[in-house]
Amino acid sequence: MSDHDFVSGGKPIGIERGEGPFLYGTDGTEYLDVGASYACTPLGHSHPAVVDAVQEQVGDLTFVDSSYPVQSREDAYAALVASTPADLDQAWFCNSGTEANEAALKFARSATGASTIVAATRSFHGRTMGSLAATWKDEYKKPFEPLAGDVEFVPYGDDEELAAAVDDETAAVILEPIQGEGGINVPPAGYLETAREATDEAGAALIFDEVQTGMGRTGSMWACQNAGVTPDILTTAKGLGNGLPVGAVAVRDWIADGAASHNATFSGGPVVTAAVHATISTLVEEEYPAHAAEMGDYLTSELEAAVGDDVREVRGEGLLVGVELKRGANRVARDLAIEQQVLALPAGRTVLRLLPPLVLERSDADRVVDAMVDVLGSNDDS
Ligand SMILES: Cc1ncc(COP(=O)(O)O)c(C=O)c1O
Repeated sequence: MSDHDFVSGGKPIGIERGEGPFLYGTDGTEYLDVGASYACTPLGHSHPAVVDAVQEQVGDLTFVDSSYPVQSREDAYAALVASTPADLDQAWFCNSGTEANEAALKFARSATGASTIVAATRSFHGRTMGSLAATWKDEYKKPFEPLAGDVEFVPYGDDEELAAAVDDETAAVILEPIQGEGGINVPPAGYLETAREATDEAGAALIFDEVQTGMGRTGSMWACQNAGVTPDILTTAKGLGNGLPVGAVAVRDWIADGAASHNATFSGGPVVTAAVHATISTLVEEEYPAHAAEMGDYLTSELEAAVGDDVREVRGEGLLVGVELKRGANRVARDLAIEQQVLALPAGRTVLRLLPPLVLERSDADRVVDAMVDVLGSNDDS
């Protein structure tokens, strides 16, 4: 960490270069990046399709504001809207996940004329004032209060509590289809349908935050497609530009028609949208969501078979995998990095998060399993 950086949290590994699922340290050490730097590189680091698109665009036109039509933005819109469920026909680009959720909450309030937001316990939607208000953890919120008001939290996964919380005062229900930061929590079957029915009945907007679950990771381009439920607003960021800072909000027509003025200077810049177009096209054409489903099944079953008593549960969908431990995840992530050169992420106190690039191969998954066995012990030791 730089002496000047007071917020990022330092790791004692200087990184110089990336390729596919690997990062290379300044001393040449190879690391397997199964955190994909917080799910931001679904195609792996420095994927040639994205690098080429960005290099070409930055030389032709680095920036012009979004009131001018630009081919890369048009291509990115078309690719994004084609990849989302039917009925999400319009989209707006922004710069990050929290900004996408901030916009989603504003769009929902202005389109419905209502103000209450229903969010879930253990949610994470970002750190700007509105998204933070819909985020669960007090630790992130308390020092910054008062936040944007009118947020009611219901227990994630509980149909009855969710349905009971939604009424004609509700502007939106905001949910992650699978919770990421909160511990890779997969809701019970039918939960997202309940959210759909409750919001339909009340005239509220259903927002799915797919910032972490999206871009093919769960076996479909968007996790809501696995559940067969289409929201009114879908938010995305992280992997959308395979490492470039870009987010988006895809909406149904009634939201677009009812949304009051909202925009941002850097919305849909040519360079980031060139990255979006290259990323989505490559994911779709090379069928990476299906590969993620297959590799996710493999990784999960190999982990379940190999790791010992220190693991309570392995859960998730596709390559969004949570390993619930009986000990602190921070320490295990550190040991994996330093001793095994495998970079994973904690999600809460006891869950280790594996969000590898979707280009992961079986040999890489085997390396993850071997590393976990080394750090945690194997079934044979139990
Ligand atoms: C589900 C979810 N929503 C929103 C965000 C915030 O995204 P950003 O850090 O790009 O603002 C995150 C980041 O971890 C996330 O996981």
